[in-house]
Amino acid sequence: MLEKQIEVLRQFTDFEPEVAIVLGSGLGGLAEKAEIHAMVEYSQIPDMPVSTAPLHKGRFVFGTLQGKRVVMMQGRVHLYEGYTPQQVVMPIRLMRLMGASKLILTNASGGINRSFSPGDLMMITDHISCFVKSPLITEKADEIGVRFPDMSNVYSKRMQKSIRNSAIKCGIDLKSGVYVQLTGPQFETPAEIKMMSALGADAVGMSTVIEAVAGIHCGFEIAGVSLVTNLACGLLDKPLSGEEVEETAQKSAVKFEKLINQIIKDI
Ligand code: HPA
Repeated sequence: MLEKQIEVLRQFTDFEPEVAIVLGSGLGGLAEKAEIHAMVEYSQIPDMPVSTAPLHKGRFVFGTLQGKRVVMMQGRVHLYEGYTPQQVVMPIRLMRLMGASKLILTNASGGINRSFSPGDLMMITDHISCFVKSPLITEKADEIGVRFPDMSNVYSKRMQKSIRNSAIKCGIDLKSGVYVQLTGPQFETPAEIKMMSALGADAVGMSTVIEAVAGIHCGFEIAGVSLVTNLACGLLDKPLSGEEVEETAQKSAVKFEKLINQIIKDI
């Protein structure tokens, strides 16, 4: 299936990206800042899942940003949209086949760590997959990567060092921590957040881990940055809503864009 998809993508553009970027909630505007070479809607590629989540457009944008040749996913797909784990990671695998070797994953998350505030940016240092089915569960995985990929260094130490320096250059107080993915789409209960805190998670979301697993499997060097849009359920005595997440994502877009631009320049 991937061969057929890459063949179709190649009919739209022969652009060879170096860096692949998944633009999470609030970062979609970054794609428009690039010197755009080509745009391909997911719906133009056979058997590709299409984005249905708010703030997610659903296309690949190829272009130059900060002097780097990039491919951006303007909108990702999530498990909670009803897609299989393999469908969710299809765009990640395609960006690798297009030639990208570095992958920057971004997302919005709920802060579990009590020292975090809404609007904070957290560099992902490691992750926990919680009830998320692996995208590598297939009969034949060896066409893309090894059967049992090592996960001891998912978020490259070299990139983490570079990102810390990028944040200093931007004057941003960058937090760091462990991101946990659940399937969603319901937000967590206070008891679930307590459990995840005990497990060592600093932020919670509904994406990214599955993409990082597929990314390592197909040979990407990975960086992850999360925008903490809210405090996780139970930390405050008030209900959570998708609107609150979107609102903070939009409010923090300028800061988030600034950091990601610097990261792209520096890596
Ligand atoms: N939980 C899960 N996903 C999220 C949250 C949250 O609190 N905020 C943004 N994405």
